[in-house]
Amino acid sequence: MTQDYVNTAESVDTDLFRHVVGHLASGVTVVTTRVDGRDYGMTASSVTSLSMDPPMMLACVNNSVPTAGAIERSGRYTVNVLGQTHGDLAYQFATPRQDKFAGVAVERGAGGIPMLAEAIASIECEVTEQVVGGTHSVFLGHVTAATAREGAPLTYFRGGFGRFEFERNDRAYERARDMVLSRVFAAGQVITVDELADCLDGDRAQAFYALTRLSGDGLVRRDPDRGYVIAPFDVRTSDDTFEARLAIELGVIDRVAGQCDPKLLAEARHHLDTMSRYLVDDHFEDFHAYLDANYAFHEAIVALSGNPLLIAAFGSLSIKNVMARSFGMTAQSSAAFLAVQRDLLEALESGDADAARRAAKAYCEMAKARTRQVLALTGGQV
Ligand SMILES: Cc1cc2nc3c(=O)[nH]c(=O)nc-3n(C[C@H](O)[C@H](O)[C@H](O)COP(=O)(O)O)c2cc1C
Repeated sequence: MTQDYVNTAESVDTDLFRHVVGHLASGVTVVTTRVDGRDYGMTASSVTSLSMDPPMMLACVNNSVPTAGAIERSGRYTVNVLGQTHGDLAYQFATPRQDKFAGVAVERGAGGIPMLAEAIASIECEVTEQVVGGTHSVFLGHVTAATAREGAPLTYFRGGFGRFEFERNDRAYERARDMVLSRVFAAGQVITVDELADCLDGDRAQAFYALTRLSGDGLVRRDPDRGYVIAPFDVRTSDDTFEARLAIELGVIDRVAGQCDPKLLAEARHHLDTMSRYLVDDHFEDFHAYLDANYAFHEAIVALSGNPLLIAAFGSLSIKNVMARSFGMTAQSSAAFLAVQRDLLEALESGDADAARRAAKAYCEMAKARTRQVLALTGGQV
């Protein structure tokens, strides 16, 4: 532990500082740990990422609260990022009491540390250094695991909780994504923030947000010399994506066939039923609704593994964008896609691993073939 705090002669008034620094908006997290068989958790906004490589976080914790000593003794903590509807959880974990976890759904990470099941992200850390600053300890943590799920964050500003203003940005992103998918921009074309802002009749902040999300989707690449470049979509990208999903699903089948969680199987069946409402008579009634259900179906299958890293790996494949650029280019489809996914589910339901593997492989081959057909129709590269 290093003591770096220096009390300078001149200091701003504490109340003034509290008021002014309240203008620095932040997200809200619950930092959890476990030691001597007891769970600890506290609401914390003074948490941030520190370094990407190596992946590191930091959390600032008042030395007077029990959680500080608990993190020091356990050498681990998990940052649970709260969603916009979790104001109650933030209050619950900001109030000193014995039963902080009462009524809170919890999963367990490394070292048995509690992770809030509802959090929109969880980041597990091992303490590498503890630095004292004034009344607080700064726990530097090496990130050992991290997962995120869909959801908007809870925010904190001037002592109040709030929501992140997404709508304008989301609309800009959706319009930009439609432009890329409908090939308003050519593959390989460079697009600047200003150009996109013009196309969207929006401002640079919206365009920047859209480009950042499109990069995450794999629709745009960030080239160090040229800037943002429209990513080409080709057979290779499609093959790699569908094969990566297949590899994950085959791994899941090997691990869980015969002992699948019935709740997750029921969830998968629900998504399959939804898909069949939107793919009728070889025709998409609503492609985006089909796509959402298709994604949720395969996510539920991957979730059968109970392994958050596999679920995150599946999420990172940007499969929706690949499907939008293949299946989604035409309303024409085939009921055979539904049939083979039903075979996969029924094989998992009956514990027939061989049949599940066959169905997963067949679905992958059909998806790859569909991309080839679409690319042939649209002139090679989309
Ligand atoms: C929005 C919000 C953010 C907070 N952020 C921090 C923080 O970053 N660090 C800290 O030490 N306390 C923070 N607190 C206060 C702690 O949550 C509070 O002291 C809690 O009771 C500590 O838990 P414990 O007593 O079980 O250890 C925050 C409280 C709120 C409401």
